[in-house]
Amino acid sequence: MCGIVGYIGKRDVAPLLLEGLQRLEYRGYDSAGIVIAGKSGGFKAVKAKGRVRELEARVPKRFAGTTGIAHTRWATHGAPSDVNAHPHLDTEGKVAVVHNGIVDNASELRAKLEADGAVFASETDSEVITHLIARSQAASLEEKVREALRVIEGTYGIAVMHADFPDRIVAARNGSPVVLGIGEKEMFVASDVAALISHTRQVVTLDDGEMATLKADDFRTYTTSGTRTTATPETVEWEAASYDMGGHDTYMHKEICEQPDAVDRVLRGRIDDKFSTVHLGGLNLDAREARGIRRVKILGCGTSYHAGMIGASLVEGLARIPADSEPASEFRYRNPVVDPDTLYIAVSQSGETYDVLAAVQELKRKGARVLGVVNVVGSAIARETDGGVYVHAGPEVCVVSTKCFTNTVVAFALLALHLGRIRDLSVADGKRIIEGLRALPEQIQEILAQEEDIKKLAAEYAEAKSMMFIGRVRGYPVALEASLKLKEISYIHAEAYPASELKHGPLALIEPAMPTVAIVPDDSLLEKNRAAMEEIKARSGRILAVAHREQEKADHTILVPKNEDELDPILMGIPLQLLAYHTALALGRDIDKPRNLAKSVTVE
Ligand code: AGP
Repeated sequence: MCGIVGYIGKRDVAPLLLEGLQRLEYRGYDSAGIVIAGKSGGFKAVKAKGRVRELEARVPKRFAGTTGIAHTRWATHGAPSDVNAHPHLDTEGKVAVVHNGIVDNASELRAKLEADGAVFASETDSEVITHLIARSQAASLEEKVREALRVIEGTYGIAVMHADFPDRIVAARNGSPVVLGIGEKEMFVASDVAALISHTRQVVTLDDGEMATLKADDFRTYTTSGTRTTATPETVEWEAASYDMGGHDTYMHKEICEQPDAVDRVLRGRIDDKFSTVHLGGLNLDAREARGIRRVKILGCGTSYHAGMIGASLVEGLARIPADSEPASEFRYRNPVVDPDTLYIAVSQSGETYDVLAAVQELKRKGARVLGVVNVVGSAIARETDGGVYVHAGPEVCVVSTKCFTNTVVAFALLALHLGRIRDLSVADGKRIIEGLRALPEQIQEILAQEEDIKKLAAEYAEAKSMMFIGRVRGYPVALEASLKLKEISYIHAEAYPASELKHGPLALIEPAMPTVAIVPDDSLLEKNRAAMEEIKARSGRILAVAHREQEKADHTILVPKNEDELDPILMGIPLQLLAYHTALALGRDIDKPRNLAKSVTVE
């Protein structure tokens, strides 16, 4: 949520920062801004409401400098506008700050600063940081920033420039990610490696409570209380090309199509045929501890919560441990009973989602064991948890999640198999699941090959104002996720219900103008699902079924290959990603950057 990029070195900074902002735009895209230190001293700033291309159009041809910071925003305090865009400068134009996160005590600090003569330009909470730094009497920039951070309550990832200290950028982190990019006589700072990956793959990720000073040929890190910390640069796993669109029209399309490879990656090196199980290196859970688990509670938000629901049914089905998934955003507010024999699992693609992170911190405070199922290596949730499973989906840039959903569910299948084989799952069942997992990449490919047919269906259903999605037991989270995908990118209203619940109310909505997507696997509930379709047909509802064989009651059926019952949900979701995609495309939506959303929700 919001993107930061900064540079200090010898190169012309404006094009570097604008390129970095383009790569960060998926984190927020309602306004953007850039500040550079001009060659003759003083700062030059440009800001623009709208996309980075709007900002780029405003940057003058002569905008020379070799140090600068920039920001792309997802508004929280203050509407998207030129003035509310970051960087925020003080009245004298000597201090410039970009900020991700939320200053909780901003109103109180603002009132005090205004009483003391500060003149605010924006409505943002972030601007208080600028004025606090500008008013500090401390001798060094580091100390000025430290003084400001001491009075701030809330979360931040910041980068600061000061005209009196032109040789440096100071950065700090508390709850919002900050990475340093280490180059040859040049340094970068960013909220995300995507912004700097085309220039350096050597990065240092700041911890919460850590600060950094970047000079062109040097960097140092220290705590907010001033104690030096050691920071050894690590090499980023992904190539710069992984962040490109790779010939597709949108990131979403690219990411849907990458799923066979992504699934192959999450399986790679983990299957143990000898014992019909899997090895999960980072779990930090020995067999004795695994046998002692009495419950599994999975916590995530949005798509990750849905992936957790399928994960829970895999854990319950294969390991026979009672398991459920709950929105992390609700969990910590209901004062949950934290049980020492429960294994808690936090799920997050980004590893940054504030609601998930806060739930993890609350659980750890109460002494619980928390694992992470996370995509972004080294992210806050990955660091905060006691161990876990990386889902290895690769960078996901589109705001809506597709390949990460699929890989997360596969990661849960691996975890469930691992726990199951430590407990009572037979060798034969272990083998059966392993064969099913190995079949997935090719089966996903078969589904992707139906894209043209799904596109035609999408054209037909794109006229709907509202759609119903139904499924039973394992099919219900698939319905939930498919309805979320459709609403996120097409803005068509969609409801998801367990098929069994239709007659308890939602059937009242069924009419020809409200089509239903029914998840109809060939499993023990096939007849029950058919009965639900009968109920819809009897009310003249249109039905699109996703099934393993043609469904008579449906107007259209998308056929998916059959896998093991437990793994079928992984495949049944994929055609519905394509359905959402082509529906949104038919409606002319901005697929990679849907309105009002951002990729990582790092605020509450
Ligand atoms: C997915 O399409 C959504 N944009 C959203 O629900 C997302 O899954 C949610 O915000 C959680 O994100 P995370 O997985 O990065 O924690």
